[in-house]
Amino acid sequence: MTILNLGWIRAQFPALRQEMNGQPIAFLDGPGGTQVPQRVVDAIAHHLITSNANLHGAFSTSANTEILVEQARASVADFLGCDHDEVVFGANMTTLTFAISRSIGRELQAGDEIVVTSLDHDANVSPWMALAEERGVVIRTVKLHKEDCTLDMVDLAHQITERTKLVAIGYASNAVGTINNVAQAVRLAHAVGALVFVDAVHYAPHGLMNVRSLDCDFLVCSAYKFFGPHVGILYGKREHLTHFRPYKPRPAPNESPFCWETGTQNFEGLAGLVASINYLTELGQQTAPAVTNRRNALMTAMVSIQEYERSLSEYMIPHLLNIPGVTLYGISDPARFTWRTPTVGIRMMGYTPLELAKALGDRGIFTWNGNFYALNLTQQLGLESSGGLLRIGCTHYNTISEIQWMLQVLHELAVHPVAA
Ligand SMILES: Cc1ncc(COP(=O)(O)O)c(C=O)c1O
Repeated sequence: MTILNLGWIRAQFPALRQEMNGQPIAFLDGPGGTQVPQRVVDAIAHHLITSNANLHGAFSTSANTEILVEQARASVADFLGCDHDEVVFGANMTTLTFAISRSIGRELQAGDEIVVTSLDHDANVSPWMALAEERGVVIRTVKLHKEDCTLDMVDLAHQITERTKLVAIGYASNAVGTINNVAQAVRLAHAVGALVFVDAVHYAPHGLMNVRSLDCDFLVCSAYKFFGPHVGILYGKREHLTHFRPYKPRPAPNESPFCWETGTQNFEGLAGLVASINYLTELGQQTAPAVTNRRNALMTAMVSIQEYERSLSEYMIPHLLNIPGVTLYGISDPARFTWRTPTVGIRMMGYTPLELAKALGDRGIFTWNGNFYALNLTQQLGLESSGGLLRIGCTHYNTISEIQWMLQVLHELAVHPVAA
């Protein structure tokens, strides 16, 4: 197993030095948004100080901004394994998904079908459901194996028909950490000529992505979930980005990918995004110093992160299951941990998820509670009306000792429940 240099990693993130009541804070809230390395903060400030201008001006700061946008596109292309003209930036994943779904919807007719899943964040469900309302598209929803919160792949095959035009699927669940067999979904969808739209927002900080070998048609992610600022990213196969027609103002460029980037972009955010990818690149180079090519360094980084995070799951999940009154929703068998991220959803007897998150938060352990917009999931698990789940989300900057502290607090709370 690759050993990450946790000392170097944690030193990159100034937020991790914060304290509460004289104690360090444990940031177990990564799936809601990760902390950023110092270089991301510096890059944002540097851009705003030295090159704060809109595109296409006849002066140097504007030219610098144009260079920056192309640097950002090239960085993301290496992160995802595609070409730079297949990368589109936007406000966030949700806004990009609504935009592209409207353009795809222009070509759909009543009776065409779109497949969504019970495990997805609603940002990969509602944009497609809107097409049912507007164009009479039929929405089919893939079932869940409730016992381990995995997608029912037999049902997925069943839901895909000759009328399917698109399959919308998450790479990994932001609520319970399940990694879906996206490659299989792509094969099934392509067999009937349907497109595949992958939500990789939760997966992006946890594993290696290669959109070429995955062969998906679209993939979306958000830089604030992988150590960058609030910038949305859409990958689209060139043939689709040049084929579909965007909604855009008339004077805006007609060429892809620019035609998809409506309005003025968050340029300082793009500067921060480049820095976050530089951070991951350096992490990869630390692990494999001989690697000089950025894509290869990023691949090394993500594989090392995945291995380290698996060790966090291997420690955390069996210990969570040993706490009296805890129910874990999701994969709990260590033999299947390649199919999960270190994001766990639990309930504990005697507490609502909000009460638990508050009790942990008051002690400096930051977790999330609720449905995290994975509404189909909390509804199907019958948890929506009682507050959803408590989500403990680790990233590669978290340590075993932070997990031990969280487990110890949960143990203490388990013996002193607030309600019956
Ligand atoms: C899996 C998943 N998809 C989509 C989103 C929405 O992303 P954004 O905030 O960039 O719109 C989130 C945000 O939490 C998410 O976790």
